[in-house]
Amino acid sequence: MPTAAVADQTETARRALEQVCSGDLDGIAGVYHPDFVDHVNRLTYRGHAGARRSVALYLKLFPDLRFEVDEQVSEGDRVASRWTLRGTHRGREVELRGIVISRFEDGRIIEDWAASDTMELVRQLGLRRTIQLATSHRALLFDRGASSTSGPGAARRLIDRLSCRLRQNRSCPVPPSETERVRRIQDKNAGGYDRQMNFFDRVLFAGGREWACSQAEGEVLEIAIGTGRNLIHYPSGVKLTAIEYSPEMLAIARDRAAKIDREVDLREGDAQALEFPDESFDTVVITLALCTIPDDRKAVQEARRVLRPGGKLILLEHVRSPLLPVRTVQHLIEPLAIRFEADHLTREPLDYLIDEGYEVESSERSRIGIVERVIARKPT
Ligand SMILES: C[S@@+](CC[C@H](N)C(=O)[O-])C[C@H]1O[C@@H](n2cnc3c(N)ncnc32)[C@H](O)[C@@H]1O
Repeated sequence: MPTAAVADQTETARRALEQVCSGDLDGIAGVYHPDFVDHVNRLTYRGHAGARRSVALYLKLFPDLRFEVDEQVSEGDRVASRWTLRGTHRGREVELRGIVISRFEDGRIIEDWAASDTMELVRQLGLRRTIQLATSHRALLFDRGASSTSGPGAARRLIDRLSCRLRQNRSCPVPPSETERVRRIQDKNAGGYDRQMNFFDRVLFAGGREWACSQAEGEVLEIAIGTGRNLIHYPSGVKLTAIEYSPEMLAIARDRAAKIDREVDLREGDAQALEFPDESFDTVVITLALCTIPDDRKAVQEARRVLRPGGKLILLEHVRSPLLPVRTVQHLIEPLAIRFEADHLTREPLDYLIDEGYEVESSERSRIGIVERVIARKPT
């Protein structure tokens, strides 16, 4: 590659960090290719909109954010930049170092791989701010790539794996009798489900159903639709199919669809063995059901199978809190919740989404870290 082009790439990579990532969002199209893919910790951002989201997230955390390039090395179509980030988060000044490798196409960055010293960030922020940050932006702080073998992500996965073995749940085989037990519980509870959820939708999941359904596009499959509480929130343009294992729940969903005149193909079915052919949907929506489906990981595998390449998995879930006192309470009451409600309180889909072949586009935590919204994509 001619020396001038390499110099241009190096300068563009510098501009991307020192200007665009430092807050000049109008400069995005000048430095990033329209097909840009940004791999940052567990998250993947795509295109100019993705770059905007990624920078906006950092600006939200550090409103006075400044990146400075310390050193750059260029070779072929790649530029490696060592950088220092300075900014203030909730009154605490931080200085974080990291590296990004940028790949270029047609003079603009088409792919970035970024790594930073998140443990150092935790040390500088202190415990209180870290916990606050962890509850709202967990992936940014704690989740390194799925294949990483060191750091807090690896330690957390090891603990999770061990506790899974001890608790005999995730990734341990689920006997068919458990699926039938869950069906019986759901059939029995169907009559009171809406009354119970009116409360939880108000205090815990407010806005969650609207958010999940507003992300749906094209041909949509909702898995474990329950009594159909999401039906009213889907955009009118989507073609909706939904499955549910409990006949009693399904009957209520059918009534609801008829009452609101929503066209939907409602079927009895098992999320762990979907009846649909590969690559038949653009979006799969699952709300508050991975906590109940006996083999949640299998359901996520099935969702990926039926998604078209580039298709979206939208999740709204209650999950294990990163806050120790809250998590301890969740662990304590979980055996009862599983026994009487088939409700797992400490599951965490982010633990396995990447291993199952998804790219996690965004994840957001709220309500003392218990409620999670995730958008994940099946790669193209
Ligand atoms: C807590 S409810 C959530 C219902 C609904 N998604 C909502 O947001 O209100 C969990 C649902 O998962 C369903 N379910 C559990 N196991 C299932 C399976 N293997 N296949 C399909 N649905 C299942 C239950 O019958 C129940 O309706």
